[in-house]
Amino acid sequence: MHFINTVTATHYIHSMPNSSTYALLVICDDGKEYVFKHAGSQEAGGTNILIAEYLSYLVAQRFNLPIPEYSLIKIGKKFLKTIEDENIYTMLKNSPELCIGSVYIHGTLPFLDAFKIKSRDYKLLLKTIFGFDQYLYNEDRFPENPNLLFIPQKMELIVIDHSLAIWPLLDYEDTLDAPARARREHILYPYVKGSMSYVSGLIKEVYDVTIKYFIDTIPKEWLNEDLNKDFLTEFFKVRRDNINTILKGVKKCKKPTSNTNLSLF
Ligand SMILES: Nc1ncnc2c1ncn2[C@@H]1O[C@H](COP(=O)(O)OP(=O)(O)O)[C@@H](O)[C@H]1O
Ligand SMILES: [Mg+2]
Repeated sequence: MHFINTVTATHYIHSMPNSSTYALLVICDDGKEYVFKHAGSQEAGGTNILIAEYLSYLVAQRFNLPIPEYSLIKIGKKFLKTIEDENIYTMLKNSPELCIGSVYIHGTLPFLDAFKIKSRDYKLLLKTIFGFDQYLYNEDRFPENPNLLFIPQKMELIVIDHSLAIWPLLDYEDTLDAPARARREHILYPYVKGSMSYVSGLIKEVYDVTIKYFIDTIPKEWLNEDLNKDFLTEFFKVRRDNINTILKGVKKCKKPTSNTNLSLF
């Protein structure tokens, strides 16, 4: 049992520009276009990025954050035949058959346009996204690459791209209660004013009700020696227990270790 649907990719459209995870735009057998994340590049994180996207999506939904619909996506044989680029073909052959992706939303605008949103809850939303990122140890939302999209027709802001949540903590050899890195450079840092009790309340609620089930349903071919169920269970527990200090960024992050080479797009 998974918390999300499974579809099969049928056609390759193109690779996403500037994607550090080699994301692809594809069509699936439900007729929808997806931004498809695979695990064919070890240097981009391998299956760790799939686990990161899966768990972040489920948590984001429970936080009521606006996020595109995600599906688990199988690499079909027919799909592989539609790929002419040799590098992409090789990467997909090196990936587990089951991957993940988000439904592609056409006509989005950059984050700055979202300031047209005048609703009362907008600032609370920005603060909640910041808290969500801290909880998941996701630093990948910078002004030059916000991973936030604005849908003008709906006057809605959406969050995307959680490939670098959770597992970079292992690469940086940070402790489980470390705040996400580059806190002050996070695009939403300027909105973190006043009480964060709404976010910490959400985090405690979601942990108690669901995290165990989310972890239990991770496709087992994605789990590995480093990112396994025990580690993930402990990660979420320690972060829940220390959420107030994590949100305040009290504890200092360690300096990057020499073998750390994470590109942030
Ligand atoms: N669901 C989506 N709808 C529309 N555009 C998207 C969607 N997901 C990703 N994108 C676009 O594709 C780019 C690359 O996807 P992203 O998930 O950010 O990959 P990466 O991990 O390589 O940065 C994004 O910066 C954004 O412009
Ligand atoms: Mg991105």
